[in-house]
Amino acid sequence: MLERLQPQPEDKIIQLMALFRDDPRPVKVDLGVGVYKDATGHTPIMRAVRAAGKRLWDAETTKTYVALAGDPGFHAAMAGLVLGDAVPASRLAAAAAPGGTGALRIAFDLIHKTAPGASVWMSDPTWPNHPAIVADLGLKPASYRYFDNATGGVDFAGMLADIAAIPDGDVLLLHGCCHNPTGANLTPAQWDQLAEALAGRKLTVLIDIAYQGFGDGLEDDAYGTRLLARRLPELLIAASCSKNFGVYRERVGVLLAVVPEGADRATVQANLAMLNRLNYSFPPDHGARLVQTVLGSPDLTADWKAELEEIRLSMLGLRQQLADELRRLTNSDRFDFIARHRGMFSRLGLSPDQVARLRADHAIYMVGDSRINIAGLNKDSVPLLARAIAAVI
Ligand code: LMR
Repeated sequence: MLERLQPQPEDKIIQLMALFRDDPRPVKVDLGVGVYKDATGHTPIMRAVRAAGKRLWDAETTKTYVALAGDPGFHAAMAGLVLGDAVPASRLAAAAAPGGTGALRIAFDLIHKTAPGASVWMSDPTWPNHPAIVADLGLKPASYRYFDNATGGVDFAGMLADIAAIPDGDVLLLHGCCHNPTGANLTPAQWDQLAEALAGRKLTVLIDIAYQGFGDGLEDDAYGTRLLARRLPELLIAASCSKNFGVYRERVGVLLAVVPEGADRATVQANLAMLNRLNYSFPPDHGARLVQTVLGSPDLTADWKAELEEIRLSMLGLRQQLADELRRLTNSDRFDFIARHRGMFSRLGLSPDQVARLRADHAIYMVGDSRINIAGLNKDSVPLLARAIAAVI
């Protein structure tokens, strides 16, 4: 049987990690996978997460199973973080999952169960794992206009027009904030318009929110998600803690389901638990418990928010520095959008050939669509990157 398996294409983002590691050049810049790095290139354990780990080490007395959907205390903490008070707990079902990807997988499983023929409409472009999972489950990938290559902003009119034409019963996937891979995001006013356009439509809306706190701040980044949770009768939300808690390898995520008023929440909850059971029985607990401990301890919460804000502001500073440097070197405003973008990523609008030359000639690694991880930069590598871009364009 095994000999019948087909070779698998390399994941374009994950492949870069190995290519970069194996590059022997002494000066090289990794702007590939979305991982936060400090000015020394290190991905630190956040202070509050480390402190939570110590508390947990002392307090935890057992590693026995918790529950198929994970700890309700974790659900409540994450619902508070993502949704604030947008919906009452009585309308929420939730399942802890291995990372944001695990939560997405469960969401798409659920969609596949209830609407196996549905198309899933994703932004053009989107995180490549979205269409990959959708196709793997036999759902139909489809796309709506999103990124305007000419301006580096959102083609909002195109997006609204395409969404208006999505047939009833299909699925709409939105990025809650910090769009991956482009860095271009909806303004609050655009979210308002989108909510207006979606009210009364019969679409299943799924929000992927993986970078809350990396854009305009924890509250502002949740604006669209909270708005749609208030305005739509039902909503699915896949939230990741990988980035904003820096717990990448722990695999911490949650699927939140806002159930319609008067619907049977318990049945939705039972379905989420059963999907976990079918995939991996129990979701990982350790990282979720770290997050729950941070969010459940006022001192740790305050320190976590402070460090997250430091991270966010450092990325904004790097954005501005890069935009300024490119303005100076290219004598144009072509790259000004970098300072307007938010989150970890910006799509630079370079050709695949230019991206290849940046890697071959300048040891600068970015995804083939010219997505850069802003957090992979520091004050010293920004001028290197800017000079290299100016050399290849
Ligand atoms: C990314 O887009 O770089 C991150 O979400 C990491 C990943 O798994 O692709």
